[in-house]
Amino acid sequence: MFTADLVIKDGVIVTDRTEFKGSIAIKDERILAIGEAEAMPPAKEVLDAAGLHVLPGAIDAHVHFREPGYTHKETWKTGTASAAMGGVTTVFEMPNTKPPTGTLEALNLKLEAAKKAHVDYGIYGLLGEENLDHLEELMDGGVAAFKCFMGNTFGNLPAPSTGAMLEGFERIAARGLRIALHAENASIMKRRQLQLQAFGRKDPLAHLAARPPVVAAEAVSRAAILAEWTGARIHILHVSSGTELGPLRDAKARGVDITAETCPHYLLLDENAYTDVASLIRVNPPVREKAHQTMLWAAVLDGTIDMIATDHAPHLAAEKFKDDIWCADCGFTGVETQMPLMLTQVAAGRMSLQHYVKMTATAPAQAFGLYPRKGILQPGADADIVVVDLKREHVIQAEQLQSIGRCTPFEDMVVRGLPIHTLVRGRFVMKDRELVEASSGHGRPVGRIQQMPPPAPKNLEHTTSAILHAGPPA
Ligand code: DOR
Ligand code: ZN
Repeated sequence: MFTADLVIKDGVIVTDRTEFKGSIAIKDERILAIGEAEAMPPAKEVLDAAGLHVLPGAIDAHVHFREPGYTHKETWKTGTASAAMGGVTTVFEMPNTKPPTGTLEALNLKLEAAKKAHVDYGIYGLLGEENLDHLEELMDGGVAAFKCFMGNTFGNLPAPSTGAMLEGFERIAARGLRIALHAENASIMKRRQLQLQAFGRKDPLAHLAARPPVVAAEAVSRAAILAEWTGARIHILHVSSGTELGPLRDAKARGVDITAETCPHYLLLDENAYTDVASLIRVNPPVREKAHQTMLWAAVLDGTIDMIATDHAPHLAAEKFKDDIWCADCGFTGVETQMPLMLTQVAAGRMSLQHYVKMTATAPAQAFGLYPRKGILQPGADADIVVVDLKREHVIQAEQLQSIGRCTPFEDMVVRGLPIHTLVRGRFVMKDRELVEASSGHGRPVGRIQQMPPPAPKNLEHTTSAILHAGPPA
């Protein structure tokens, strides 16, 4: 009989579909067996999980770790330490670093920095106006997906024209990778902001006024039309409004391969945040009025929104707290607080634990080609596991977070439900609420295990390359 490396004994094992008392045996980074404690093989180490719940580690499809370029805000080491403490075992990291991840050279710089990671990771390549000829090399170099900034945000990467987007979608569709969209319409926002500034507005709510929901809804629907035409797979980042849900539902009904995420701040905060935490709340897209929050919850529960990600976007307090809202950097930390915040909602009865697992682990694994290697607890899967105490209460405090830029709009919030141990491929990266420092460097890129077979080709006779290749009529 095998000797397992570790047995996690007598917890409540939770997947997106089931929940039962049992034990998990781990060997060579993978789950070897799941069942009754008596049925487990002998193990070098046993973790008693009695009274605790055992979940697939969260997969956060949206984090900004700032390295290279803005390492005073975050690094791969600190960002993934935050992930480990937050029960997150895989992250997908965004390209608005310096340099932006738009060429193979920039990707290689990032891959080098990521060698300090505590958790597994995918890296987003940039889809921008100027780098269409670099998309192939980025795919060959191992990006897990692409990110297209339709609206500008931190890093000020210019939004590509619709023409460049279409051509980028054509090229990426041929390889099957998913394209994530920061879906906000740049031209509406720019106009509104200039008008508000000319009018003298610099209060926090001016930020919300500059980005009305139509900004997001227009961009979702435009991206969906391009995806439908090209067959590209797309992912709508940080859905913030009820207004986006119409175009999202329509696209899904038309058969577009479109997934969507929302974030804890859109589900838990509303317009009062602009008074409560002032300029700290500045984030793109903005936290909106309560009516939007209500519609987002319904969409989380009915499956219109597929997953919960965090848009972990660290900045220093000095960069966040400004009297003039237009001078405050956008975004705040999230990767370490998502799980306690959302488990608190589970405790309050707003979502089942199985649905939570689906939204934070199974669905992102499926969308980005990692399932069933990740996102599920079953024999053969990577032993990416978080052991949580659903009864444990905790007070969120920025100063305890691992991030460098550690502001949070959830400061002093009492949460119920806390990750206690986190394992990435069978290795503890957090144990008994302590970061395992020595696990820096354990994280691996997910590229090798990712499966994104290209979808059926669409409208190939109309692609830019087909048209140029055909030349003028004889
Ligand atoms: O508020 C935001 N901050 N939204 C984004 O899309 C980017 C992020 C950042 O990188 O700071
Ligand atoms: Zn983001």
